[in-house]
Amino acid sequence: MTIRHSLLPVLACLGLAPAPSSGAPSAPVMEDPAIVPLPAKLEWRKREEGFAFTSPLPISAALAGTPEGQALIRSLQKTDIPFEAGGSAADVFDVSLSAPGLREEGYTLEITPNRIRIAAGGEAGLFHAVQTLAQSVVKDSQGRPALPAMTIEDAPRFEWRGLMIDSGRYMLKPNEIKRIIDLMAHYKFNRLHWHLTEDQGWRIEIKKYPKLTEVGSVRAESPVMGDRRRGDGTPYGGFYTQDEIRDVVAYARARYILVVPEVEMPGHSSAAIAAYPEFGNADIPDYNPRVATTWGVKSYLYAPTEKAFNFLDDVLAEVCALFPDSPYIHIGGDEAPKKQWKQSAMAQNVIKEQGLKDEDELQSYFIRQMEKRLKARGRRIIGWDELQLQGGLDPSAVIMVWRSPEFAKPVLENGNSIILAPTEYCYLDYNQGDSPARPLYDNINDGRRDWRHVYSRNPVPAGITPEQESRILGMQGNVWAEYIPNLLKWEYLAFPRALAVAEMAWTPQERRSEEDFARRLQRQEDYLDNKKVNFRRADGTPHIDR
Ligand code: ACM
Repeated sequence: MTIRHSLLPVLACLGLAPAPSSGAPSAPVMEDPAIVPLPAKLEWRKREEGFAFTSPLPISAALAGTPEGQALIRSLQKTDIPFEAGGSAADVFDVSLSAPGLREEGYTLEITPNRIRIAAGGEAGLFHAVQTLAQSVVKDSQGRPALPAMTIEDAPRFEWRGLMIDSGRYMLKPNEIKRIIDLMAHYKFNRLHWHLTEDQGWRIEIKKYPKLTEVGSVRAESPVMGDRRRGDGTPYGGFYTQDEIRDVVAYARARYILVVPEVEMPGHSSAAIAAYPEFGNADIPDYNPRVATTWGVKSYLYAPTEKAFNFLDDVLAEVCALFPDSPYIHIGGDEAPKKQWKQSAMAQNVIKEQGLKDEDELQSYFIRQMEKRLKARGRRIIGWDELQLQGGLDPSAVIMVWRSPEFAKPVLENGNSIILAPTEYCYLDYNQGDSPARPLYDNINDGRRDWRHVYSRNPVPAGITPEQESRILGMQGNVWAEYIPNLLKWEYLAFPRALAVAEMAWTPQERRSEEDFARRLQRQEDYLDNKKVNFRRADGTPHIDR
């Protein structure tokens, strides 16, 4: 069977029309490639002939019949690179997998006027090599598409390179999440942290507890954009069915992106407790759980009782089945005010029975209970940094540092692994500059937080040991959605900053340069334009929705 993949999008991106010939030298190439994230090592031979890229890349039937050829085809199909597999043309690709000395995500890519050689540690590395290839098309000195003659040796700085989607506040449609996954794959992200439960909405179907979505997915109203104290009077609701979740997870998996779900506990749980009040602290005065209609920290926590633990364990059993590849389940743990546990005789009784010092230790007890249950299901927990810093935690838990980069060091000293997502430079929901001229695009204001603000940081804190540094799994950008009701605004806030995060997480620190990134970013804007991404332009306007 011949598989054809159109040449048109990649040529259209360059403003060119297709023409015959392949596996032949191009005219000399003067234009630098503009790859993001920058490869760990890249030598390109400026002024030399490159690989003329004017027709679909041929993959012979022989190559297509090998596991390497199959993996290559699967990867190419997820890009705009034109190829034709199973035809009679001679191969231009040399591909090897399990190449010695390369990690799973590592690869080398060698482009000469007649060949494209890829050696990869594993299929993920081959996928990344193909993304690099897709970003490497330039114009030769005659204005025709070419791949520059070059040698790349590449592997990621960090194993965790993520973005977080907050579906609790506002939901993106499954197809919109897939679009984000495509963009993530193009920039070599490999973790999608999916924040699925919140005070303002429970978004994941759980068969055993249907009221979680019947009741917990609908709030009576939302705060008005621009005035968080006023309600808009309009109910908002929705959730992802288990089929939709499985579909998104499979789509991401095919792009070597692991989806890691988050189910918040003990706080940020108003919606679940509104659905099942018996799992909250029902013995306190004025107990009246509701799906929250305002933003901010709420007082409703799960009760620290066996009954609530068993409920959560049932929920997590279904969550584990929906996310079979994720070694981690994120269980939140942030912003859990202890007022209800102070008021609840039931909670106080647990403190006494378990010999705990206070409500912070009760939180730690709660988390250990859930950690034990998840361990029995073969999963490790991830939690926000309060988890370790309030009441102590087992070193096997992974901590997501968010309140300040300063929390990284004490958590590492406790022996935990960390993922960096500090508000200071990883919260991609803050405005990127002054308030945008379009009020609809306004978000949280806290000074200039454009891509330069993000890019200028070194995620590795000073003064840690090499062993501690080895426990920094990586970093991610968080796109909290209180003020992001749709994809257009999501893209406006995430792009181009997400590209800065991608490079910080992939490229060795000493290779990074703000000015070189600025140059490459300009070229990447052509790609984002081609994909109709509503990125924030340098003048602050939304690129598509103008
Ligand atoms: C958080 O921003 N509350 C993790």
